[in-house]
Amino acid sequence: MTRPHVICHMGPSVDGRIVTGRWSVSRALSAAYEETAATFGADAWIIGRVSMEPYAGNAEVPGRDHGEPIPRVDFIDRDDADSYAIAIDPSGKLRWESNMIDEEHVITILTESVDDDYLAFLQSKGVSYLFGGRERIDLPMVLQKLADTFDIQTLLLEGGGNINGTFLEADCIDELSLLIAPVADGATNVATLFDAGESTPARPLELISVEQREDSIVWIRYKVKR
Ligand SMILES: NC(=O)c1ccc[n+]([C@@H]2O[C@H](COP(=O)([O-])OP(=O)(O)OC[C@H]3O[C@@H](n4cnc5c(N)ncnc54)[C@H](OP(=O)(O)O)[C@@H]3O)[C@@H](O)[C@H]2O)c1
Repeated sequence: MTRPHVICHMGPSVDGRIVTGRWSVSRALSAAYEETAATFGADAWIIGRVSMEPYAGNAEVPGRDHGEPIPRVDFIDRDDADSYAIAIDPSGKLRWESNMIDEEHVITILTESVDDDYLAFLQSKGVSYLFGGRERIDLPMVLQKLADTFDIQTLLLEGGGNINGTFLEADCIDELSLLIAPVADGATNVATLFDAGESTPARPLELISVEQREDSIVWIRYKVKR
């Protein structure tokens, strides 16, 4: 099975927290994050529903008075983009205002439990969608579809902790790219680098490289050992 090479690219504090609002270094971190992300030549990035909310917008989803049932078949608005922005949104909560984020075409990953009004809304906006399972998302199957349908070979997994945790649990991460922020955060009940269940096996890593960056940020890359 060929799936994209998945690089989890994140900017955590030294204690693994990822909610950056209280950090004085957040602007420098964000610049280093984008600059570093661009060096991977990735075909797409993927984030969880919560992290995607600020990018998606707040469009209204119209109700349909009448209308044929919409079959649970993948909808591909375009497959020729240079790059793709992907969300995992199992129950269809994101209110897309556009099918583009900057120059990147939007793909959303749904379960079959979403309602027909929502599918009609996505089609009207030209947002491509893939079904990732009936009620739960099957990540290996989704990754296979992304490779087969959109020719995505390198994928940046960009958080938050919940989606990263599900990728870790499914053993679908190949590399970590961490820009460690010079912050000891200490908050409890906030998103961390990987928020997965206790049954998730701890994955051993092998160091690829370490680089000191400006503003006391350290870039660390690891390969996931298999
Ligand atoms: N510092 C950094 O580098 C960085 C990077 C990214 C994000 N963040 C921060 O992280 C925070 C958000 O993290 P988060 O963990 O709360 O949310 P998240 O991972 O962005 O989104 C989680 C949601 O995505 C959906 N989802 C993701 N993977 C799924 C899967 N495999 N199967 C089913 N559903 C899946 C679910 O949506 P439903 O709830 O709809 O079921 C889930 O609740 C934000 O504060 C953001 O700013 C930080």
